[in-house]
Amino acid sequence: MKCFLTRRLPQAAMEQLETTFELRVNPYDRVCTKEELLEGVRWCDILLCLLTDPIDAEIIRANPHLQGIVNYAVGYNNIDVAAATARKIPVTNTPGVLTETTADLAWALIFSVARRIVESDAFTRSGAFAGWAPQLFLGGDVWGKTLGIIGAGRIGTAVALRSAGFNMPLLYVDEHPNTPLEQQLGARKVSLTELLQQADFVSLHVPLLPQTTHLIGMAEFAAMKSTAYLINTSRGAVVDEAALVQALQTGRIAGAGLDVYEHEPLLHPALKALPNVVLTPHIASGSKDTRTRMGLICAENAAAIKAGKMPPQIVNPEIYR
Ligand code: GLV
Ligand code: GLV
Repeated sequence: MKCFLTRRLPQAAMEQLETTFELRVNPYDRVCTKEELLEGVRWCDILLCLLTDPIDAEIIRANPHLQGIVNYAVGYNNIDVAAATARKIPVTNTPGVLTETTADLAWALIFSVARRIVESDAFTRSGAFAGWAPQLFLGGDVWGKTLGIIGAGRIGTAVALRSAGFNMPLLYVDEHPNTPLEQQLGARKVSLTELLQQADFVSLHVPLLPQTTHLIGMAEFAAMKSTAYLINTSRGAVVDEAALVQALQTGRIAGAGLDVYEHEPLLHPALKALPNVVLTPHIASGSKDTRTRMGLICAENAAAIKAGKMPPQIVNPEIYR
């Protein structure tokens, strides 16, 4: 069976895939063009793709014999799952293995933006440090502040659990009650408005869906405290980036820590000039161990598809009913 990889994965995953498949790999260290993607899809039985590959109905149609779409990510908003399901093509993702690593980065952003780590690192390197000073790089406290989690699923819960050592009151928004968070940390399930009004850190952990697109926009920034910080490690389009820029420029909120962008890899041109944002290039799951684990899960998912079994991490299990 043939598997096309739209980008080379960590070595352990490549070796695992080689035991099961005839592989073709995008030879360039960049995202495939649409033409390259079409050609790869036509050649393969299983498509192993990234969150940067738009797998739309046209791509899926290009190969009437396509047997699986294996996404190297937990988020799968890049794939037209309905089009795949209509053809009974399994779509898989990589949940679980990246939860803790992603939660670590959310906290890295919380600390970096609140304590102005990036700005003060640049200052120190530049030779400008002239000695301890009472007002040098004053930031916001993290400990004791209220953490607001929007989307208390796997990653949102892992971010929330990490707050225990910092004595932070915890609020969350979710469709479902999160009993472990309520029992272990006294978290309160509240409305979005209440969370925005009370949280000092608002951290986003929802998938990108039509109903979460621009979940945070002008009205939501207006509801937030002027001392609050927004942290986004989910998907860029959950936030109206133009409204965010305005909120940051006008001091409507204190700052933002962003790992994802609405028009990735493009950034809103004003973001780069703002001192009160910390910007990382979509690296939340990017530890060496986790990226390998994600690759191994992809290999497992692909091997199950080849064996005609339901893959361990299936997005559209209904095709097997
Ligand atoms: C990363 O953003 C992922 O969805 O895995
Ligand atoms: C800071 O270094 C202090 O001693 O207060």
